[in-house]
Amino acid sequence: MTQAPIRIAPSILAADFARLGDQVREAEKAGADRLHLDVMDGHFVPNITFGPPVIRSLRAVTRLPLETHLMVEEPDRFLEHFAEAGSTTLIVHWEGSVHLQRALDRIRGLGLKTGVAINPATPAMVLEEVLGDVDLVLIMTVNPGFGGQRFIESTLPKIRRLRDWLDRARPNVELEVDGGIDAETAPKVIAAGARVLVAGTAVFRHPQGITAGINTLRG
Ligand code: DX5
Ligand code: ZN
Repeated sequence: MTQAPIRIAPSILAADFARLGDQVREAEKAGADRLHLDVMDGHFVPNITFGPPVIRSLRAVTRLPLETHLMVEEPDRFLEHFAEAGSTTLIVHWEGSVHLQRALDRIRGLGLKTGVAINPATPAMVLEEVLGDVDLVLIMTVNPGFGGQRFIESTLPKIRRLRDWLDRARPNVELEVDGGIDAETAPKVIAAGARVLVAGTAVFRHPQGITAGINTLRG
């Protein structure tokens, strides 16, 4: 089986928000494959970030796909808003959605790609009944809420298990990882089977700049 190429999804959480448009343009020029947008509500995670207006503004300055990672309780309440703002993909958390299948069905109904995320403590097997409803599975490699955290090594066996499972059952579902991904951890998650790498700090705070940050992740 030919392996899917590695995709890089810079997370704007680590960008300079006063220069967001310029930084996103630079990431696009440097070969970023999509943008990762971390929405936090202060309930599901102990932090608050941004909402649809920021996404709408970004939609106007980049042609990159916009994947919106909803770290919010009951994301069902906001799906239309994030779709209208210009998201390409909506990622909801298994832990935050009582009616997960309905949320995924509604995202599809809005014409967007569907993603489901699981926290480090959540086993991959909880996804069994929804794998047919998703385009992407996001394995959190840190506990969500903040950028710049340390990669949790014990997530590697879970990535490997999910890779095997997807190869057998759903080879078209993308396997993405998020949190603590840098030049040192990227080869490990790629070897375990991840194909989409989210990275905030390693891209937007790289000492040699955004382009160098993206290049080092590609190895
Ligand atoms: C964490 C977010 C991540 C975060 C990653 O809750 O979901 O997307 O921005 O940041 P780094 O790459 O700095 O760990
Ligand atoms: Zn994220």
